[in-house]
Amino acid sequence: MCGIVGYAGVNEAAPVLLKGLEKLEYRGYDSAGIAVLNGREIEFAKAAGKLQVLRDLTEEGATVHGRIGIGHTRWATHGEPSDVNAHPHVSNSGRFAVVHNGIIENYQQLKAMLLGKGFTFLSQTDTEVIAQLVEYYYGKCGDMLETMCRIVGKLEGSYALGILCADQPDRFYAVRKDSPLVLGLGEGANLVASDVSPMLAYTQRVCYLDDQEIVVLQADNVAVYDINGERIEKEVTVIDWDVSAAEKGGYEHFMFKEIMEQPQSLQKTISPRLQDGEIVLDDFHITRERLEDFRKIYIVACGSSYHVGAVGKYVLEQTTRIPVEVDIASEFRYRNPIIDEHTLMIVISQSGETADTIAAMREGKRQGSHVLAIVNVLGSTIAREADDVLYTWAGPEIAVATTKAYSTQLAVIYLLALKFAELLGTMAAEERAAHYQALQQLPQQMESLLAEKEEIQFMASQLYNKHSIFFIGRNLDYAVALEGSLKLKEISYIHSEAYAGGELKHGTISLIEQGTLVVTLATHDALVDKIKSNAEEVKARGAYLLAVAVRGDERMAEVADAVFYVPRTLPLLQPSLTVLPLQLFSYYVASQKGCSIDQPKNLAKSVTVE
Ligand code: M6R
Repeated sequence: MCGIVGYAGVNEAAPVLLKGLEKLEYRGYDSAGIAVLNGREIEFAKAAGKLQVLRDLTEEGATVHGRIGIGHTRWATHGEPSDVNAHPHVSNSGRFAVVHNGIIENYQQLKAMLLGKGFTFLSQTDTEVIAQLVEYYYGKCGDMLETMCRIVGKLEGSYALGILCADQPDRFYAVRKDSPLVLGLGEGANLVASDVSPMLAYTQRVCYLDDQEIVVLQADNVAVYDINGERIEKEVTVIDWDVSAAEKGGYEHFMFKEIMEQPQSLQKTISPRLQDGEIVLDDFHITRERLEDFRKIYIVACGSSYHVGAVGKYVLEQTTRIPVEVDIASEFRYRNPIIDEHTLMIVISQSGETADTIAAMREGKRQGSHVLAIVNVLGSTIAREADDVLYTWAGPEIAVATTKAYSTQLAVIYLLALKFAELLGTMAAEERAAHYQALQQLPQQMESLLAEKEEIQFMASQLYNKHSIFFIGRNLDYAVALEGSLKLKEISYIHSEAYAGGELKHGTISLIEQGTLVVTLATHDALVDKIKSNAEEVKARGAYLLAVAVRGDERMAEVADAVFYVPRTLPLLQPSLTVLPLQLFSYYVASQKGCSIDQPKNLAKSVTVE
């Protein structure tokens, strides 16, 4: 989704903005632009296409002068990706420039009002309305802070904005509502950005802005105001990621680096929380009494985070005997879910900024549920608004296709399930101890599995030209199949579906033809014979069978064309290992096909619009 960066400092702004936008490229975009204050003039450049087009247009920023500026990568919502629709949008007089992430829901009413006042519009975007609205209110009051307060009162929808005013050549303005915006406090440089990655080169001191907070940034000063124009103080957070955590570090793709980082990420997520044979969860305030009071658990998330929830349903029901429903966030609040104070809602999100998940969480809170969030990005909206937060210490995840965030989210689900079982007394102490031990072994088991990556690479080289692929599994393997299928289709553009093994013959089996690839997950010990029968059914209709099984279990070898073996762990934890060959398979298939792996077409890393 759109990325914003703004800079006020002692250096030329344009190269800083271009570098910052490069760090935000991973979010997904189709055009880019920058605007810089040069004395009392605004200079700007924008273009459809990748950042390189803008780099060439501005000769790496050399043609746009000034030390205060704003930049933007646009993921089109209103109007096609084009030069004219790219941000920044400049007001009719040329005195104001605006970059925007989000959607202005009442832009048509505002546009009609502004057209009536004689303003003209060049683009099809909702954002251009903001540029003219700023000009309109500034014309009325002549004060930029008051103008900011007024536009916040007028705009409906979601926005993170960076705004230049030519009358104020030493500063720029920013504000957010329901779209992410972080403030970075450096030495001789203050910045805003959609996330911390563009600012790590300048500072690790950041402030997370709350809704409708207005910031005025100068090179040597930052002031934050509320919607009434009253000055407010913000808490400063020091980020412990360094620049290298968000770099490729010699790998060809972020996705591959992140796949390979999973043992360390898992270790970081688990180790501090397993102390002397006990699970110690930070920022977790659910007592035994409160837990006993929950009659239902909802897990709500999108995409891969939803797939973690699908595993979580099996795991939490097994360990707590509390009924669990897993919901797609964009559907949840529109189906009038039954929520009250006896409901625990677990929301899962890597970014903590997914618009649908935020909206579902707010609906859950409004109706009285307790919200526990599993989040990767420190200080994100979900992390700040939830009642309890458990962070996945995966570090920055840059590739659009999630891997290490998925694994660490899963690890947190396990920790949570075991903690709940301990509080509720639903699992014998020895069984819990066995799970703690197995959890601690997972990073090392992942390590040994990843060392066999060439085997998967070879399988991918034989199978990458398939047009349609099915993933099947039962129970936890079905939940993992959902993720394997999504991973493959999002980066390789091969059509793929995941099915519960027993469900195929209720319709989907009609799609199986000679040579159709069916990836069969058979790692759930109790159901291997059942999934083997389902595999036989598709094999009899011509399918090519690639199986994933647990090392030492030879049953699938009797039917499959090829088997990849994963190390054995306890059944509830097995998804942590089963998912790895699927991530690798997707990666190698996409690589064989020459796809844009880290930034697949049409996709965004952080989906900040509903
Ligand atoms: O940041 P979130 O975890 O809330 O994001 C949810 C989905 O957009 C995300 O998992 C998406 O499905 C990934 N691209 C999958 O790899």
